[in-house]
Amino acid sequence: MKTIAITGAGGQIGYALVFRVLSFFAEKNEKIHLKLIDLPAVMPSMEGLAMEIDDCAFSCVESLTITDELHVGFKDVDWAFLVGAMPRQKGMERSDLLSKNALIFKEQGQALNEVANPDAHVLVVGNPCNTNALIAAHYAPKLNKNHFYGMMMLDELRARAQVANKVDTQVENVKNMIVWGNHSATQFPDYTHATVDGKQVTELCDETWLKDTFLPKNQKRGAEVIAARGASSAASAANAALETMKRVLYPDGQPFSLGIHSNGEYGAQAGLMASYPCMVSSGEARIINDIELDSYVKAQAQLSFDELADEYNQLKTLNIL
Ligand code: LMR
Repeated sequence: MKTIAITGAGGQIGYALVFRVLSFFAEKNEKIHLKLIDLPAVMPSMEGLAMEIDDCAFSCVESLTITDELHVGFKDVDWAFLVGAMPRQKGMERSDLLSKNALIFKEQGQALNEVANPDAHVLVVGNPCNTNALIAAHYAPKLNKNHFYGMMMLDELRARAQVANKVDTQVENVKNMIVWGNHSATQFPDYTHATVDGKQVTELCDETWLKDTFLPKNQKRGAEVIAARGASSAASAANAALETMKRVLYPDGQPFSLGIHSNGEYGAQAGLMASYPCMVSSGEARIINDIELDSYVKAQAQLSFDELADEYNQLKTLNIL
């Protein structure tokens, strides 16, 4: 039976994610221990969340823990969604968040190291997610560093939805849309390898639209949502978090975008956490490392890898790594 933990469970993403996760396991007929973690100030409203979970009468809940203690929340965890972080506000770039969130992820990594299942998977949603995942992994040496992930699925789903709308098809027909690099404005959603019903997206959509509309829209979609909602994306982020867990734990044989430990594949600095095309085999998400990239895609991916290297260097300067 899996133990699933969610940090920041009392926030907007958490509120959406909790019920999506419970519905998913209820439909699968799989029982789980659910551990919801947030700050002490949020505990009163978390009591209300617990009541709502009870009132849904989900068949999958073997036990429910509400806590402000990381060591309680991460005890024996098999899959942790690290959602809690200071969110990006209007006008902030993700890099502004780096130092603010670094200490949070250091502490979470340390707690995971002490009490989690050593085989646990850890998906970081809080931004800057790839670098936060790197920090958590660094402070959790007892866990498998290849089981720490940055959430790139939101970018992939945004890209697939854009193309589906453009060519008027269902989003599930858009395949192989891999996002390279960082979850930021430098990301590269690789339309050059993407297909719709087996046809290349580059044959179905003109290059001007792909380069001048599709690309910047995906890269800046997070900021566009913040400007419209006055708050960071929540339901779509929760959806992407659940979709990532599904791809890793219940693989469907399709490649997907995942921020994962890099050994230097495709020109990234080894040791970074960066988004790559991944597939799961024998229960492990692995980078697909034999894709031919043309010079344009290589250069775009490199830009984003370089931004991740800058984030890494900032952490070195801050003595976090
Ligand atoms: C998003 O992409 O919507 C979130 O990661 C929020 C953000 O900071 O962009």
